[in-house]
Amino acid sequence: MIEIKNLNKTFKTEVGTVEALKNINFTVEDGEIYGIIGMSGAGKSTLVRCINMIEKPTSGEVRIDDVDLTKLQDWQLRNIRRDVTMIFQSFNLLMQKNVRDNIELPLKFAGVNKKKSRKTVNELLELVGLGDKASAYPAQLSGGQRQRVAIARALATNPKVLLCDEATSALDPKTTGQILELIRDINKKLGITVVIITHQMSVVQSICDKVAIIDHGEIVERGKVSEIFANPKSEAAKRLVFPERQEAIVASESSETIEVLFNESETTHAPLITSLAQDKGICASIIYASTKSVEGKAFGRIVLEVPNDPKIVDDAVKYLSAAHGVTVTVGSSKYRDDKKPIENNDIGGDANV
Ligand SMILES: Nc1ncnc2c1ncn2[C@@H]1O[C@H](COP(=O)(O)OP(=O)(O)OP(=O)(O)O)[C@@H](O)[C@H]1O
Ligand SMILES: [Mg+2]
Repeated sequence: MIEIKNLNKTFKTEVGTVEALKNINFTVEDGEIYGIIGMSGAGKSTLVRCINMIEKPTSGEVRIDDVDLTKLQDWQLRNIRRDVTMIFQSFNLLMQKNVRDNIELPLKFAGVNKKKSRKTVNELLELVGLGDKASAYPAQLSGGQRQRVAIARALATNPKVLLCDEATSALDPKTTGQILELIRDINKKLGITVVIITHQMSVVQSICDKVAIIDHGEIVERGKVSEIFANPKSEAAKRLVFPERQEAIVASESSETIEVLFNESETTHAPLITSLAQDKGICASIIYASTKSVEGKAFGRIVLEVPNDPKIVDDAVKYLSAAHGVTVTVGSSKYRDDKKPIENNDIGGDANV
């Protein structure tokens, strides 16, 4: 089990201090695939580097199986880094060494004898599907194959935890899917706990059990992936789950917006809006609608525009709130803290992939 308690990290630079992590708390159970998602600069890499102590936290605890890593000496941390290994966006392979030698490297450092390490490398090559590439050099491999080598190297010391920092961000969607499938396979077969750092909601959606959303160095929301999708509460979570919303919603001054989240697969929005008109005489315009499927359940969000009359708003909210599996919020969609359009490569931009 990984327990992060009251973790803070401050960088001192020539131009001042950067509070990269502020009072971070979360727990990853053994065997879980845990996602940490946030925008560029949110503190994701700093956080994951604190988990294996490449970066020393300013304060707080990083407990793995009840051992607080912040209290350990450097020589003890070297052993820990065999139990907690990492893969990166840029693969970090040694270009002048072939696939076999890259995978063998951590075994060499650990003093494993040649015969045993050869056997381990052969098994790892099979596990990651590179049985025929042992003598190839990284320059002769595709991005997906390079990441497979990096995964095999990370598994060489038989770790308990695999940390992945944007491990699929340099790959095309199909290769991303294959690498995520491999990570899920490894998690199931070897029982390794996986922490995945990403800016892509699609990665969290397809592989993670739980997720923490990090924004400006703080965890603003965390929980089961299906629950966050069903009912995102923080502005950052809403931005991730419904990335289109910022561009889509423009309500006029004389109107009010009502946001309706559907978190039960049986409920669909069309009959509800029709019955609001029939039963209450309130004609709401749909100014935004989106649905998506997570773990086989349908989730959706619509934003309605109604006249800015307190009685109408109140009546509509009461009526909509009474429906099964629906969460209703007034006005929140109208006020946005960031009106910039989302760039293609930016957070959540591929949430529907
Ligand atoms: N060594 C350092 N010295 C000073 N500031 C740093 C250092 N490392 C990170 N930071 C700052 O800490 C903040 C968090 O950076 P971090 O790399 O963790 O973000 P990130 O979420 O991984 O972003 P990205 O998605 O772009 O990789 C940023 O403001 C960054 O400038
Ligand atoms: Mg990063």
